[in-house]
Amino acid sequence: MRLKIAELPGDGIGPEVVEQAVKAVDAVCRKYGHEAEYAFGYVGACAIEKFGNAFPEETFKTCMDSQAVLFGAVGDPKYDNDPTAKVRPEQGLLAMRKQLGLYANLRPVETFKALVRKSPLKEELVDGADFLCVRELTGGMYFGEKGRLDNGDTAYDTNVYHRYEVERILRLSFDYARRRRGHLTVVDKANVLESSRLWRQVAQELAPEYPDVQTDYMYVDNAAMKLITGPKFFDVLVTENTFGDILTDEASCVSGSMGLLASASIGEHTGVFEPIHGSYPQAAGKNIANPLATILSAAMMFEYAFGLKEEGRAIRNAVKASIDAGIVTEDLADGGKAYGTSEVGDWVAANIK
Ligand code: IPM
Ligand code: MN
Repeated sequence: MRLKIAELPGDGIGPEVVEQAVKAVDAVCRKYGHEAEYAFGYVGACAIEKFGNAFPEETFKTCMDSQAVLFGAVGDPKYDNDPTAKVRPEQGLLAMRKQLGLYANLRPVETFKALVRKSPLKEELVDGADFLCVRELTGGMYFGEKGRLDNGDTAYDTNVYHRYEVERILRLSFDYARRRRGHLTVVDKANVLESSRLWRQVAQELAPEYPDVQTDYMYVDNAAMKLITGPKFFDVLVTENTFGDILTDEASCVSGSMGLLASASIGEHTGVFEPIHGSYPQAAGKNIANPLATILSAAMMFEYAFGLKEEGRAIRNAVKASIDAGIVTEDLADGGKAYGTSEVGDWVAANIK
C-alpha cells in the first residue's frame, strides 16, 4: 500500500520525536511491503516565523492531500509570557483541528508492567488500568466567542455547544465503549453549566439505543479525583474540550510519564496523530525527550488512518519491548541507564518484528 503522510514536526522537541516515529513507520513499511511518502509542513512558532501564520494555507493543503498527519508539538516560551502577542503557536494547532474537522480526540491510557512503579500513584491502584479518553476537540470554550471589554479590563470566553456536536462525539464514544468493556462515563459539570446540561440530556436520550453499554455520569471535579484514586473504574470517558484537555494531562500520570501518551484526532478530513506532551522547550535539541508517545501515535495512525491493525500492533510491541529491555529516556530510566531520544528511536525501529 502507498501511504501518503503529512509530516508536521512543529516546535520544541517536535522535530526530534517525529524523526523517531518516522524511523518506526519506515521500518514497519519495509516489513509489511508498504511505501510511505512524506510531505513536510510548517505549523506553530516555526510557521509564524516563516509565514506570519501559525497554520499556513500551504500546510492545510498538504494535510488535505495526505491520508494522515504525523504531528509533533507547537509552542515557544517567547509567546507564553506575552499575553499581548497577536499570533500564537497554539493557534496553529487549533486552526488545524478546526479546518480538518477533527472533532474527536482519542487518548488511550494504559499501563506497562515494567513501569507501574514509575507512576506517582500507588502500584496497586494503577496496575491494569486501561481506558480511553475521548475529548471533544472543535467546540466549547476554546472556539467560542472571546474578547475584552472595558478597555481591556474585562475578559470573556464563551462555552458554546450545539446538539449535533454533542451527539456525534457521544455516538462515537458509545461505539468505542461497545467494542471495549461496555462502560461509558460521561463527564460534565451539569450541576452548574448549561452546556453540560445539554451534554447530559443528549447522552440520556442516546443511552437507550446502546443497551449493551452501561452509561454513567460524573461531575468533572469528581472525575479528576477518581482518575487518581481509582483509575481502573474507567473504560471509556467522554467529555468536552476544556475538561478533556485538563483531565488527559492528569490521566497521563497513570501510565507513569507524559512521554507515553499518544493521541489520534479524527473527524471529517485527514486525521492527526500526535503525542499529548507538547513542545517541552527546555529539552529541545538535547536528545533527551521521550519519543515513545509519538511512536505510539504512529501506531494509532496505522490502525485508524490506514486500517492496518497488524502494523500498528508491531510498533506497539516494539515499544513494549524497549520498555521491558530498559531502552528508555531519562524520564523512565528510574536510576538505570538513560538512553538518548535517537537511540530509543533506533532501537524501536530495529525491533519491529
Ligand atoms: C493539547 C494541547 C493543546 C490544547 C494546546 C497546545 C492548544 O495542550 O493538545 O492538549 O490545549 O488542546
Ligand atoms: Mn493539553
